[in-house]
Amino acid sequence: MLHDHHSRSIGSAQSALAVQGYSPVAKWLHWLVVLLVLTQFLTAILMPEIGPDTVPATLISLHFSFGVLILVVMAIRFIYRRLYPVPLDMPGSPAWERRAARATHLAFYFILLVGPFLGWASASAHKLAVNVFGIISLPAIAAPKARWALTAGDIHASMMWVLLALIALHAAAAFYHYLFVHDGVLQRMLPAPRE
Ligand code: HEM
Ligand code: HEM
Repeated sequence: MLHDHHSRSIGSAQSALAVQGYSPVAKWLHWLVVLLVLTQFLTAILMPEIGPDTVPATLISLHFSFGVLILVVMAIRFIYRRLYPVPLDMPGSPAWERRAARATHLAFYFILLVGPFLGWASASAHKLAVNVFGIISLPAIAAPKARWALTAGDIHASMMWVLLALIALHAAAAFYHYLFVHDGVLQRMLPAPRE
């Protein structure tokens, strides 16, 4: 039977959920964020270096716009996740693996909720306006050339490379479970098979 060693005790309704997998909304949000974040790394790599004389070019505007969109989607996802807890634990997996998975998922939420603000601060310090898809114009959150905000920009970039490494680890773990462990970890984030 399904024994849950999670500190918060989980009722039988959620144990059933654990077998079925994530809710359709949780799955949609997961794969939407995957798409947006991969696009975001493309704009980050392709956009020009941001220095004192940078003018806001298309790729930079796209980086800011998609970055803010990711922040908004992650905020919705975070609230949804608090309202409807997901089955993070695989009772059949060793404790270290479950701890690693939990820590990785936590890091994803942390980096994607805090990281965009550091990029925004850096944009403000470089006097670059943050205008979301030309529709919503956001205020500057740091003074021009503010030292803390320039440092925040460095932290933003490093943080996002750490995120990319974690994504590689996370995806490798999913495929490892799919190919070798056969415990349905990947399947529970995929669309449910038709009855
Ligand atoms: C979660 C979404 C985001 C991801 C994954 C991301 C990723 C990255 C990466 C990887 C870099 C480094 C690029 C390089 O050094 O070649 C970078 C730089 C930068 N990003 Fe983002 N970013 C995100 C959100 C944002 C947002 C919302 C803003 C602004 C509103 C922003 C503004 C910047 C700026 C200004 C830089 C240059 C930093 C500096 O050198 O000071 N980013 N971003
Ligand atoms: C931008 C990249 C990604 C991010 C930010 C991300 C984030 C997350 C998070 C936060 C969870 C925990 C569930 C939740 O809290 O909603 C999760 C679960 C999961 N992700 Fe990802 N993910 C990414 C890419 C991928 C990729 C590429 C795959 C597959 C190859 C994948 C497969 C899974 C699976 C199978 C689970 C369920 C794991 C479990 O229940 O223990 N993810 N992901």
